[in-house]
Amino acid sequence: MRGPKVLAFSCQRYYPRPMAILFHISDLHFGAEDRDALAWFKAEVEIHRPDAIICTGDLTMRGTTREFAAAADWLASLPVPVSLEPGNHDMPYYWEMMARLRRPFARFQEMRRAAHSDLALDGVMLVSLPTVVPAQWRLNWSKGHITARALSSAVAGLREGAAASLRLVACHHPLVDAGTHGTGSTLGGRAALAALAGAGAHAVLSGHVHDPFDLTIEAAGKPLRLIGAGTLSQRLRSSAPGYNRLDWNAIAGLEVAAIFS
Ligand SMILES: [Fe+2]
Ligand SMILES: [Fe+2]
Repeated sequence: MRGPKVLAFSCQRYYPRPMAILFHISDLHFGAEDRDALAWFKAEVEIHRPDAIICTGDLTMRGTTREFAAAADWLASLPVPVSLEPGNHDMPYYWEMMARLRRPFARFQEMRRAAHSDLALDGVMLVSLPTVVPAQWRLNWSKGHITARALSSAVAGLREGAAASLRLVACHHPLVDAGTHGTGSTLGGRAALAALAGAGAHAVLSGHVHDPFDLTIEAAGKPLRLIGAGTLSQRLRSSAPGYNRLDWNAIAGLEVAAIFS
């Protein structure tokens, strides 16, 4: 087991009791999972008991039934609700092209029905913005792509939840690249950020690049927090396996720490 290391992105410790504790994980990649990292994360959940876990996609490597079953078993073993987003690895792989094109999310949705819980916290809302499509007009189909339909659904969700004090968006690809080793190169990402900020989003949670980040940009004239989680798989880039801890208090705001195994 690796020793604990904590990298705090920001500290505003004026109020001792956060109103919500969320753990943000991503890129479990069952099929290339890191079993030590998964066991460590599960122990972290059992110790700290977050209100919920948000997982921003890539639960599997090749989108196979067996990998989804392994992911579902592990998710079911966690003692708190988990919210799930699809990643680009969560569709049938390229050698299953007909299944990929005809029913790209059938296996993911089957797993999600068993393992997903909607976020149910006073004052906190989460909307989904899918950034994965089965095919694109460019060579690299692993990159992000936002459809008009996906964006308008997320914007409508944010407007419906305008009364919430913390409004989060969950997606797989970073909507703009954040200086990490990997990139999302998300088509439509910058325009989406403006639309999401205009609709009242406070933060966008993502995965895909396997390294954590936390930055604030200006979009539609408002500050918007972009938060990326690392990975709990063997597919490491620049950082050890880890997760993000989000402590939210309506007065003190959102505190984010990347925690590594
Ligand atoms: Fe990934
Ligand atoms: Fe990905």
